[in-house]
Amino acid sequence: MTARILNGAKIRDSIMEELGEQIRDLKTAGITPGLAAVLVGENPASQIYVRSKVKTCESLGLHSEKIEWPADTSTERLLGLVDDLNRRAEIDGILVQLPLPPQVDSKAVLEAVSPAKDVDGFHPVNIGNLVSGRLGLVPCTPAGIIEILRRSGITMQGARAVIIGRSDIVGKPVAMLLLHNHATVTICHSRTRDLPAVAREADILVAAIGKPAFVTGEFIKPGAAVIDVGINRLTTEEEVRRIFHAPAAALEKLQSKGSVLVGDVQPEDVQEKAGAYTPVPGGVGPLTIAMLMANTVQAARLRRGIPSAKSAGR
Ligand code: GUN
Repeated sequence: MTARILNGAKIRDSIMEELGEQIRDLKTAGITPGLAAVLVGENPASQIYVRSKVKTCESLGLHSEKIEWPADTSTERLLGLVDDLNRRAEIDGILVQLPLPPQVDSKAVLEAVSPAKDVDGFHPVNIGNLVSGRLGLVPCTPAGIIEILRRSGITMQGARAVIIGRSDIVGKPVAMLLLHNHATVTICHSRTRDLPAVAREADILVAAIGKPAFVTGEFIKPGAAVIDVGINRLTTEEEVRRIFHAPAAALEKLQSKGSVLVGDVQPEDVQEKAGAYTPVPGGVGPLTIAMLMANTVQAARLRRGIPSAKSAGR
């Protein structure tokens, strides 16, 4: 059996089109949702992410501001910035790009963001809203995973869902969203006994551990939907040979590009055993920024008491 590929870029494009319409309607009513992206220091990956977030805002006609501060910024100064952004009427969403430099108290900064403007969904108030099924702002990657499942016609109601990884950003929130969508949910982690056997129970398997090709064929029930959240960069021939059964194409990519991206799921095994799966790259990744845009629009609505067209990820 060859599995169906769940094309994240295509799903992103439909979401962006729908958002474009919603933004036009809001603008007609005199409202332009605005996002402030805060970047501290010079982490190259963070620079790329933030640039991409701001560019996507521009392409949708949202107001956006990129605030870049030096790596030696103190917690106090950042708290002052967040306080200013919380007060500014034209800013609906505040995104503090992680990781912050080591001297900064990241928890304090994230908790200072007003829950109404917390478009990452990281604030304890929004976590509480998510757990108790209240309207709020949902973390972007988990919301994107639900959009992929829903828009690909994969039944969540009554399904066995197994999540490998218990992070605050992906594992825990996606478990809650799957539960709200009536799946029977199991969260696994490094101490889980006989992990492959638990994973093999899954109709929907979510891999979010950050270990290249950790999920192999023995984890996958034939026909399951496999969602791969991992993005791991392989840079040596040895790694590529260890991970790929037939490494020729990947070795060629390593030669020409200098690295090969692989998810948390072994890419050849998943193609053989799953019913449907998200590739890396091109699966979950493209959805994350789209859901950030959806959250910014949602925040603009919630703050003004305008009923939402649809809450992201629910
Ligand atoms: N760094 C890596 N992923 C994320 C994310 O989703 N949000 C923020 N703010 N920083 C990140």
